[in-house]
Amino acid sequence: MSMKLHPVGIIGSGKYVPERILTNKDLEQMVETNDEWIVTRTGMRERRIAAPEQATSDLAYEASLKALAAAGLAAEDLDLIVVATITPDMFFPSTACLLQDKLGAKRAAAFDLSAACSGFIYGLATASNMIATGMYKHVLVVGAECLSRITDYTDRNTCILFGDGAGAVVLGQVPEGRGFRSFELGADGSGGELLRIQGGGSRKPSSPDTIGGKDHFIYMAGNEVYKFAVRIMGNAAEEALRKAGMDKKDVDLLIPHQANIRIIQSAMNRLDLPQEKCMINLDKYGNVSAASIPIALAEAVEQDRVNEGDCIVLVGFGGGLTWGASVLVW
Ligand code: UT7
Repeated sequence: MSMKLHPVGIIGSGKYVPERILTNKDLEQMVETNDEWIVTRTGMRERRIAAPEQATSDLAYEASLKALAAAGLAAEDLDLIVVATITPDMFFPSTACLLQDKLGAKRAAAFDLSAACSGFIYGLATASNMIATGMYKHVLVVGAECLSRITDYTDRNTCILFGDGAGAVVLGQVPEGRGFRSFELGADGSGGELLRIQGGGSRKPSSPDTIGGKDHFIYMAGNEVYKFAVRIMGNAAEEALRKAGMDKKDVDLLIPHQANIRIIQSAMNRLDLPQEKCMINLDKYGNVSAASIPIALAEAVEQDRVNEGDCIVLVGFGGGLTWGASVLVW
């Protein structure tokens, strides 16, 4: 049986970052590090930190309101909400359900999706297929994180990297020739131990021991993850272009996961892209895991860096290990 698929694209986007800024100078007061090391090794200068009363669903809510306004839709128009996050407000209910309630999106189904920094692209792939097949008309896909809550601010290997924020998009039908052209998703669970939080789950439930062992914080084998990232970013982007029947010379804008400027540069080199064709904002926000790509996307729209008909490549990688890339025509 063959089915006519509807073209699906992004019809509204928005971002929210908390007001408080954590600078490299601030980090110098907290751990044995310095501005020059952080800038040359990562490209980062500042990150945003959520206020004590803010949790992930609060950041997601602010970004979602903007995405809905940009799409010209009300919350009641949503059929589904997907939140990609590794820092849910709590184990359950899902952050997507909390967000559904805050928004008053009474008709929407809601679930969270866990694919670490690749989560937003996994979410886009899931939601766009539901619209393409006619199951749903409008889906809100959000990447939102409060990484400051799972970061050990005595560990210089990780605490310089992460920040808080949220990005949201509304997906819907678009005219023929526009929208998503391909998705490339992947996982290598054998690398799971390179980047993880061990404590607090069913394997190692929270206890004084897990707290004492700092098992509730992010652990990362930075160097190993770096090598994987450099290899996978280029591979995934090229594979998504191949599936879309497009070439790297067709790319107008690359929106990569904001993990490290050197990782992004390696992807730019693989795609022969000049700096102006790449969205970079890790200097301001650091690595916001699942929120990095949608924040960068919303910022690219705010800055008029995307025009109708542009070929955009999204690409990311993260814990799992996971990766994802997508090609879309704006
Ligand atoms: O989205 C999640 C995915 N995560 C990532 O993408 C992270 C991928 N990894 C990276 O971005 C890099 O590996 C880091 C930025 C985390 C580290 O950079 P690196 O160039 O791989 O440094 P390194 O870990 O090899 O460390 C080099 C040196 C070490 O000192 P010794 O052993 O050579 O004396 C570290 O102890 O730098 C030291 N170091 C620091 N020095 C000052 C590590 N962190 C710091 C720091 N400040 N914050």
